[in-house]
Amino acid sequence: MCGIVGYIGTDHAKEKIIDGLKRLEYRGYDSAGIALPINGSIEIRKAVGEIKNLESKISEAEFDSSVGIGHTRWATHGKPTEANAHPHGNMEQNIAIVHNGIIENYQEIREWLATEYGIKFKSETDSEVIAHLIGLYYDGDLLAAVNKAVAEMKGAYAVAAIAAEEPDKIVAVRKDAPLVAGIGKGFNFIASDIPAVLKYVQDVYLIENNETVVLTKDNIVIYDENGNTVKRDVYPVEWKADAADKADYDHFMLKEIHEQPKVIRETLMNRLNEDGSIRLDDISMTKEDIENFNKIYIVACGTAYHAGLVGKMVIERMAKIPVEIDVASEFRYRDTFIDDNTLFIAISQSGETLDTLEALRDAKSRGARILSVVNAVGSSIARESDDVFYTLAGPEIAVASTKAYTTQLICMYLIGLYMGSTRGTMDKEYYDRVLDELKALPGKVEKILYSEEKIKDMAKRYHFNDHVFFIGRGLDSGVSYEGSLKLKEISYIHSFAIAAGELKHGTIALMDSETLVVALATQDILYDKMVSNIEEIRARDAHVIGLAKEGRTEVEKVSNEAIYIPECIDEVAPVLAVIPLQIFAYYVALERGCSIDKPKNLAKSVTVE
Ligand code: AGP
Repeated sequence: MCGIVGYIGTDHAKEKIIDGLKRLEYRGYDSAGIALPINGSIEIRKAVGEIKNLESKISEAEFDSSVGIGHTRWATHGKPTEANAHPHGNMEQNIAIVHNGIIENYQEIREWLATEYGIKFKSETDSEVIAHLIGLYYDGDLLAAVNKAVAEMKGAYAVAAIAAEEPDKIVAVRKDAPLVAGIGKGFNFIASDIPAVLKYVQDVYLIENNETVVLTKDNIVIYDENGNTVKRDVYPVEWKADAADKADYDHFMLKEIHEQPKVIRETLMNRLNEDGSIRLDDISMTKEDIENFNKIYIVACGTAYHAGLVGKMVIERMAKIPVEIDVASEFRYRDTFIDDNTLFIAISQSGETLDTLEALRDAKSRGARILSVVNAVGSSIARESDDVFYTLAGPEIAVASTKAYTTQLICMYLIGLYMGSTRGTMDKEYYDRVLDELKALPGKVEKILYSEEKIKDMAKRYHFNDHVFFIGRGLDSGVSYEGSLKLKEISYIHSFAIAAGELKHGTIALMDSETLVVALATQDILYDKMVSNIEEIRARDAHVIGLAKEGRTEVEKVSNEAIYIPECIDEVAPVLAVIPLQIFAYYVALERGCSIDKPKNLAKSVTVE
C-alpha cells in the first residue's frame, strides 16, 4: 500500500506535501517523491528510504510551487529504487502522476506504448504506464486525458495527476483504493487517507469508486463515471489534528497502546443506550434477520483475524450460532456453505486489505449478509458492507496494530450481546454481567499500563531470545496468536503461538533451556490445565513467563516469573491479557534497536493479494 498527497493553494506546496507524506509513511516507506510544475515543465525529485532523505534533495528555495503531488511507496512491482519511486512523468515531462494500487494489465499497456509510440520506460513499475497514457492523450485538457487513460486500465488505483500547462489544477481518480479530498479555504488537498490532511482541514469529501475529482485552489468538483458532477456531502472529521501526531511518545505504537482505555471506552459507550441496550440505529440488520441466521463466517487477516478468533468463541457462547473463522486469503479457495441465512463478518482496521475485500465480495455474491468491523471511515470494505460497526480507535499509524485490536474485540462482544439478547439465547443477568465487565475494562487497562515499567524490565531481560512461544487455551489461545504476531513483526524474533494442549503433540520437542514461553492462564475453567502445561515445559528447562488474573499465585510458583491482570470474568480477559503482550513486544523491539512504527518489509494495510 502506498500513500499519495496533493496540494493546491497559495502557500508552499512542497512543505504541505512533505508534511502530509510524513503522516502517510505508515502506508509504505521504502521510497518517496514529489512533483511540482516549475517554469513550464514538471520537476520530479525522489529518494529511497524515509521521507527525510527526500527532504535533503528539495531544500533549495527555487524548488517550490503552489501546487504539487507527492508519494510514499511500499514496493509491489520493482525494488525500492529511485527510478521506481513515484511520481512518474511522461517523456515530455509535462505530466506527472502518483498512484496507489495495482495496474493489472500494465505489461500489455507497456508493450503497446513502447511498440506503437516508442515510449521509453524509466522504471520497472506498473504505475509508470499511467503517466505515459495521460501524456499520450493530453491535448491541454488534463481531466479528459485522465479519463481516457483510466479507460485503458484494469486493476485498483487512486491516482493524482498534474500538467505543466495547467498548473492551476490537480486531477485525481479512484477505483478500489482509498481517496479523500481535503476541503480548505483558498487551498485544497487530495490524499490516500485523512491523517495526511488532518493538520490543515476538518472537512473532507470521501471519494467513491469510479469517481474523478478536479481540484483548484478554490474549488473541488467530483464527477461520476459518466462525467456528471456529483453532489457529495461534506464529511466532518471528528479526529483532532494531534490524533495523527506522536504527541510526546517516542513511537506511535506506544502512544496507541496508551490510547486504549480511551478508545475502548468510546467504542463501547458509542453503542450503549442509557438503559444498557445496544444502540444500532445505523445498522439495517433486522431482528428477523438475526433470528434467521444459521451460520456466521468471520474472515480477516493478521491481527484482525486474531480478534476474530476471540469473536468466534464469544459469539458462539452468547448467540448460540455456529461461527466459522478463516484467514481471508484462504477463505476464497474453500468450498464454503453460504446462503442468505449466512452472516459474513469482515474485520479490518484499514478497510482496504484486498484479501479481506475480495473474500467479502465472494461471500456477498453467494447471498451472505455482510457486516464489517472497520476503523477507517468510508474505506472500501465499509462501503461494500450492508452494515458497519466502526471501531472508534482513531487513526492507527503504527504498523503493529494495538488499539484497533482491542476495539475490534469490543465490537465482537457487542455483536455477541446484541445477537444473544435478540435471539433470547442469553439471560438478562448474564447480559448485564458482561456489560458491567465491559464498562470496567478501561479502568483495568489503565491499571495494567501502570505496571509498564515492570514489563519493560522483563523485556530487557528477554530481548536476546531468538525463539519465543506463546501458549494458551480457549480464549487465551486466540490472544497468544496476537501476542506472538506483535513480537515477531516489530522485533523480528521468531515467535510462535500454539494452543497449549497441542504442545505435547510434537512442539514440546523444541523446548530446552534456550526457549522462552509466555503462558496465558486467564481462563478460570482451564487454569489447572495451564498450570500443568507450565510444569511440563519447566521440566524441559524452558523459561516460562506466566500471565494470569490477580490472586492466581500458583502460576507464579510454577513459572520463572508472572504478569498479572486485574480480576475479570473469563469472557473479557482477552482485552486485558493482550496489553502486557503489546508492551512486552514494544520494549523487546526497542532493546533490539528495531524501527518499531515501520518494521522492515511491512505496510499498514496490504492492498495486494
Ligand atoms: C498487525 O499488527 C499487522 N499490521 C497486520 O497483521 C494487520 O493486522 C493485517 O494486515 C490486517 O490489516 P487490516 O486490519 O487493516 O485489514
